[in-house]
Amino acid sequence: MTQSPESTNAATLAAYEAGAGAYVEGTPATPPDRLTGVFNLLATHVRPPATLLEIGSATGRDADLLEERGYAVTRTDAATSFVNLLRRRGLAVDRLNVLTDEVRGVYDVIYANAVFLHFSRGELVGVLARMLPHVRARGLLVFTVKGGTGEGWSTHKLDLPRHFTYWQEPALRRLVASTGWQVLELTVATGADTEWLTVIARPAV
Ligand SMILES: C[S@@+](CC[C@H](N)C(=O)[O-])C[C@H]1O[C@@H](n2cnc3c(N)ncnc32)[C@H](O)[C@@H]1O
Repeated sequence: MTQSPESTNAATLAAYEAGAGAYVEGTPATPPDRLTGVFNLLATHVRPPATLLEIGSATGRDADLLEERGYAVTRTDAATSFVNLLRRRGLAVDRLNVLTDEVRGVYDVIYANAVFLHFSRGELVGVLARMLPHVRARGLLVFTVKGGTGEGWSTHKLDLPRHFTYWQEPALRRLVASTGWQVLELTVATGADTEWLTVIARPAV
């Protein structure tokens, strides 16, 4: 499946292709406490060793930390800039655009931090449904999006436009449940200027 060049995600990916260096510079090497909390919560449901597919690895920070915790991580990203960056570090990484490419394999965990916020509500429905056969029965889907209303373009961090869809807890919960997932956790963390929603879900039986 090819991505229409007019799609908001294609434009967002073009920003990551051009602005990967700025993204790396603007991303703290140490994760915020919020993310450490997500890793801890993940471990209460699926303990390492376990296989984990990361969507949108970017700098590779989270993959490195999850590997240190004992997960067998498969790194992926849709942007060639990030794929090349990780390959230069000697790491194995696949180019994977979850809107257009087939996911291969079945994992204990699929993890995507701050990736699905670049998808429209309709795109997210499709992605969640297509992830389902790629997570084992007692496995997990873990993802984060930004809280808020509506959607729009932002040039923060990269100085280039990226498209964001903002979410509120009840609508997100309904959407995830409507795509064949059972929501185990939906947490809301308020940071300095951003509210983050974290979803931990497992295939509904
Ligand atoms: C805000 S960054 C988050 C990166 C990383 N997970 C982190 O926490 O720093 C968004 C990431 O999503 C990736 N991305 C955007 N659209 C994607 C798509 N359709 N398929 C896979 N990855 C995508 C981008 O290339 C980028 O690495």
